[in-house]
Amino acid sequence: MTAGPDERDWLAVCQLADLVPERGAAALVRGEQVAVFRLLDGRLLAVANLDPFSGAHVMARGIVGTRGDIPTVASPMYKQIFDLRTGRCLEPLGKEPLHLATWPVRVADTVVMIGYPVRAASPGALVPT
Ligand code: FES
Repeated sequence: MTAGPDERDWLAVCQLADLVPERGAAALVRGEQVAVFRLLDGRLLAVANLDPFSGAHVMARGIVGTRGDIPTVASPMYKQIFDLRTGRCLEPLGKEPLHLATWPVRVADTVVMIGYPVRAASPGALVPT
């Protein structure tokens, strides 16, 4: 099978009912902590749980809000505000801009899944010709 650039592995993280609207939940996906958020309008968004400003895994405990039309999360540590859709820091509070990684989220039946880029074959793998 050939993996296109947009193909993803969809990895189950939790049940939709596990996610409380406007609250984050932390999940471990491929050894990485992901903070999954369910908004009041039903949107699901996933960003890195690692707060780049404090180095602590706390974004799932951040305060969800909005800035205009933009859904945001504020770090519970130093209060930087990030766009939940893109991970961009909107309020660096005088620090160097740092951003959060993001992943697409989908629901299959009742299972929340995070989309990861399909893993490339390992360099040593034999390729059938
Ligand atoms: S947009 Fe200003 S810090 Fe990223």
